[in-house]
Amino acid sequence: MCGIIGIVGKSDVQNRLVESLLRLEYRGYDSAGVAGVTAPGHVERRRAQGKIRALQDVLAAQPLVAKVGIGHTRWATHGAPSERNAHPHTAGRVTLVHNGIIENFAELRRELEAHGRVFSSDTDTEVIAQLMDAQLDTGLSPLLALKATLDRLTGAFALAVLVAGEDEAILGARRGSPLVVGYGEGEMFLGSDALAVGPFTNRVAYLEEGDFVRIDHGKAEIFDAAGESVVREVKQLARAAALVERGNYRHFMEKEIHDQPEGCQRTIAAYVDTLTSQAAIPGAVDFASLERIQIVACGTSYIAGMIGRYLIEQLADLPVDVEIASEFRYRQPALRPGALVIAMSQSGETADTLAALRYCKARGMRSAAIVNATESTIAREVDVVWPIHCGPEIGVASTKAFTAQVSVLIALAIAAAKARNRIDGAEEARLVKVLLGAPRLMAEAIGLEDAISAIAAEIAKAKDVLYLGRGPMSALALEGALKLKEISYIHAEGYAAGELKHGPIALVDDQTPIIILAPYDAWFEKSASNMSEVMARGGQVVFITDTEGAKHAPAGAKVVVTAPSSDPLVSTLVMSAPIQLLAYHVAVQKGADVDQPRNLAKSVTVE
Ligand code: AGP
Repeated sequence: MCGIIGIVGKSDVQNRLVESLLRLEYRGYDSAGVAGVTAPGHVERRRAQGKIRALQDVLAAQPLVAKVGIGHTRWATHGAPSERNAHPHTAGRVTLVHNGIIENFAELRRELEAHGRVFSSDTDTEVIAQLMDAQLDTGLSPLLALKATLDRLTGAFALAVLVAGEDEAILGARRGSPLVVGYGEGEMFLGSDALAVGPFTNRVAYLEEGDFVRIDHGKAEIFDAAGESVVREVKQLARAAALVERGNYRHFMEKEIHDQPEGCQRTIAAYVDTLTSQAAIPGAVDFASLERIQIVACGTSYIAGMIGRYLIEQLADLPVDVEIASEFRYRQPALRPGALVIAMSQSGETADTLAALRYCKARGMRSAAIVNATESTIAREVDVVWPIHCGPEIGVASTKAFTAQVSVLIALAIAAAKARNRIDGAEEARLVKVLLGAPRLMAEAIGLEDAISAIAAEIAKAKDVLYLGRGPMSALALEGALKLKEISYIHAEGYAAGELKHGPIALVDDQTPIIILAPYDAWFEKSASNMSEVMARGGQVVFITDTEGAKHAPAGAKVVVTAPSSDPLVSTLVMSAPIQLLAYHVAVQKGADVDQPRNLAKSVTVE
């Protein structure tokens, strides 16, 4: 997902553009660039492939002296990562940056080339600049030229646009990719999110789908898709939401793993009544009459949904389906209106999850979202928003958002069980107290970091790693494998341990670490026998269990990691830290780019 910043400043903007881009690094990128009005009617660009350090080197050699400017971090969709494909892109008087995908760019490019326009990049983005410059040629004002351009585009975009001659303003637009307007003191800003403008202001307005905007020194003129002037609420963000620091951690991911107890504590507190020890779910969902829950999500959010299914079905006897959004949206699922769709998304901008949500809403389903970004597109399109309160998650590999999502699902399971008379008040109170106690146990599990770091050196040598678990731990096995592969680039697979003999056991040899997740729960004995099966074939087992399980673990594991014992209701919360820390320390051992792994973006806003 690309990052955008625009500043109409009272003083030079070069350093502030770069500062903002550094805060946008978490989104993942492969090149960066800035542009500014360096003289009346004159816009200059500076671009570089690679990290922002390369752009800073270019700027050191050729400073950009401008009070009005835009900046961009690019995550390549069309056109390889290179300087020529880096944003900003220029065509005649138009210089712009873009986040999203223009689906009809090839047809537009052919049309523009047929009219003599010459392209200098392989990107879809350049089509927007060329098209807008062609509109300016017809005599349209910059705003009307932008509107006419937007009307020709199919796809998703957030834009920040400089027009030579319109020297004291920046134009912007949003469709499918978020864009915020920042209000400073006599200065105005555009950004992909509140973090982008956070160093300069915490007063932001979120543009709506289809909006376009002109910002100059003192104001923003916002228009809706029909071109009507509109007002968007200016929100005062908590300073913390706008500024995220790494503190004394080496990586955001490390900090976010350690932040989990606090993040889950804040999240749980929003879903239980600690005075009455009852679950308290906002949004008046009638769980008693609900026929089914359909969870749609991607990646780690999907895995959190899998854990939710176990707990909600076991506790509430309420059918739950969980599907990968990119598959769900295209398989024409047979849906009935009596169900509730829950979109799970840390960013609230994942394209496939948004599309799956819209599919369900179009068929009459009530909708809810478990999100971190409460002003995101998904959050704005559902009937009920269930926020997680873990603060901005910067590391591309999701950790604190994952356990916070699971925390919400546990509270939902308790509330649904009570509403459907599957548990009485006393049991509800007991389960709420178990949930409230989870963060303390999570903190204890994080205390295993040194033991886990010691294992990491060995695992870092592996070519393949197998994660096994049963019940909710089979979902956590998938999460452990995803964490390891996405930040250390080691191939890893997560499997339901009962599947071992149906294929994966063929992988087992004395070079393959097998990570078995087995708290002392109803599945423990079966997991213990799986452990014996793989050890009999030379498998090097890392047995992650709890204090009770350690007493019953079969001998012979290469390592036994002992997390604190917990009620099965919260064991996935407690067992998350060991698998997260293992992936983190393996990646550190391998010198990988932990917070911005190669090829990955923090939010996948394109298909
Ligand atoms: C998780 O570590 C990954 N970064 C990725 O799988 C992520 O969970 C997925 O892209 C979904 O993102 P979302 O929660 O913002 O929708």
